[in-house]
Amino acid sequence: MYRSHNCGELRETHIGEHVKLAGWVQTIRDKGNIIWVDLRDRYGLTQIVGEKEVVSDEVLNAMKQLGREFVIQVEGEVIERYQKNPDLITGAIEIKASKITILNAALTPPFTIENETDGGEELRMKYRYLDLRRNPVQDKLKLRHKVSLETRKYLDSVDFMEVETPYLIKSTPEGARDFVVPSRMNPGQFYALPQSPQTFKQLLMVSGYDRYYQIVKCFRDEDLRADRQPEFTQIDCEMAFVEQEDVLNTFEGLVKHLFKTCRNHEFEGDFPRMTYAEAMERYGSDKPDIRFGMEFVNMNEVTQNKGFGVFDSAELVLGITAKDCAVYTRKQLDALVNWVKRPQIGAKGLIYCKYNEDGTFKSSVDKFFDQNALAEWANKAGAEKGDLILILSGDTNTVRSQMNELRLHMGNELGLRDPNKFAPLWVLDFPLLEWDEESQRYHAMHHPFTSPKKEDLALIDSDPGKVRANAYDLAMNGVELGGGSIRIHNKELQARMFELLGFSDEEAKAQFGFLMNAFEYGAPPHGGLAFGFDRLVATMGGSESIRDYIAFPKNNSGRDVMIDSPASIDQEQLNELFLSNTNLPNPEN
Ligand code: AMO
Repeated sequence: MYRSHNCGELRETHIGEHVKLAGWVQTIRDKGNIIWVDLRDRYGLTQIVGEKEVVSDEVLNAMKQLGREFVIQVEGEVIERYQKNPDLITGAIEIKASKITILNAALTPPFTIENETDGGEELRMKYRYLDLRRNPVQDKLKLRHKVSLETRKYLDSVDFMEVETPYLIKSTPEGARDFVVPSRMNPGQFYALPQSPQTFKQLLMVSGYDRYYQIVKCFRDEDLRADRQPEFTQIDCEMAFVEQEDVLNTFEGLVKHLFKTCRNHEFEGDFPRMTYAEAMERYGSDKPDIRFGMEFVNMNEVTQNKGFGVFDSAELVLGITAKDCAVYTRKQLDALVNWVKRPQIGAKGLIYCKYNEDGTFKSSVDKFFDQNALAEWANKAGAEKGDLILILSGDTNTVRSQMNELRLHMGNELGLRDPNKFAPLWVLDFPLLEWDEESQRYHAMHHPFTSPKKEDLALIDSDPGKVRANAYDLAMNGVELGGGSIRIHNKELQARMFELLGFSDEEAKAQFGFLMNAFEYGAPPHGGLAFGFDRLVATMGGSESIRDYIAFPKNNSGRDVMIDSPASIDQEQLNELFLSNTNLPNPEN
């Protein structure tokens, strides 16, 4: 028996007991005659004490040999601690060591394994197994574990059944690039890893499984960001005989259950809802962060036809009001102007107007707008004395997207995005299609199996871009946590959809023939949704980065720097797969 208790278990009630603990050496304090060692495991820290004349020389000598992160076993008596530590769950006791066994020595770690560490991201990722020893990282993975456990409990309680679907499949319709796997047994042919189990979960509905879920890995070869990993996890769900309202209610129930059980957070009332069109108009985003206001105001009426060309030539002049920011200095304002001009945002400039406490206005376009005109701006924008109005102009989509970035930036600057506040929002009625300038054709905004709204069906031939879908997202704190739709379950409508998306009959059959065939054998009406599990857990943990909530994540170039992957494979393996590496880019170029 390596241990009788773990390092987070002993309390005053254990005083006098002889115990055995095992774990890692967190810290050593050697005062000559007395040595303290903090022993750590997943459950906590326990202080070990060795005092000259109280413990044997053997024990004292063993303690003197210890180094940080040594793995040791300690035997001894639980005694009352002289100076109790109320911050530690075991802080009332310590172990008077009677035997110390070094189970394994350790090299000095490349960064300190403490709550606040000195290691940079790259170094911590290279030694991720050491980073994973740190409490804040363990806490995140514990939260992840709890959320997955509670997800399973909840979904089981409402009759969902977990079914696994294959990873070696063919291209799925989520719109990113596929990761592919060559097939040795089928020379020249490739599997694609699923971007989601979308088609399989629909087939399970045709098979009569009624309510399916799976906590499942998905793979997408796309540009990475803080909230995107090439392999990530979904809580993927599908339900038969449902309408949109049934799906929304079921999963609002799941999210409320998870926040209650894992964060002790209760939401008041129903989650608010907003149409996509409204979200774009008020926030310029299909996942607005509604923890704070600063909503968009259309300023066309009060800014155009006053002789300022930039505004006059713009399709849309948009304003936001930053409360109490009229005190911004010239330097702060210049920094904002430069911020919107960065290539990532791409604005040509930013116009501002201060509504000073003394009732006067100061704008960056005083030449064109006098005090009366600026008072009209303030009135329109709902600004009060002490506020700052920020204005961007241009064509509608561009200016909305730029203003969305600026609004979020101001939200961060002003501390309005409290990570302990949770603001869910259902975004409904997404467009069915979006026009892609590059390929000059429509793409499915969600995926090709999403059903159009009945009342918009007539527009499918006349004005397809205007057709709305039975598609919905759950946004929270500016993050798209999940999304789904009511599906098409009728072969003719599905065929029409493929046609709209520019698939020929043959292409549609080759790629999704199995699903279209299945629809001819009694497909029930069905719909579903998938949550991004990593995003859900990160949001619950108050973080925007999902990486910290994944045990072994990849970096922004899609690399695992610990195992050094991806890596080349040898010629023999290439030959076996009928692959050649002659097309590889020359690293010299
Ligand atoms: P969608 O493509 O919207 O829908 O994905 C569902 C959710 O998965 C998360 N997500 C990601 N998380 C981390 N890294 C990524 N690269 C990544 N990509 C997506 C997001 C997103 O909301 N089959 C449909 C669902 C359905 O219709 O039922 C689907 O996959 O949180």
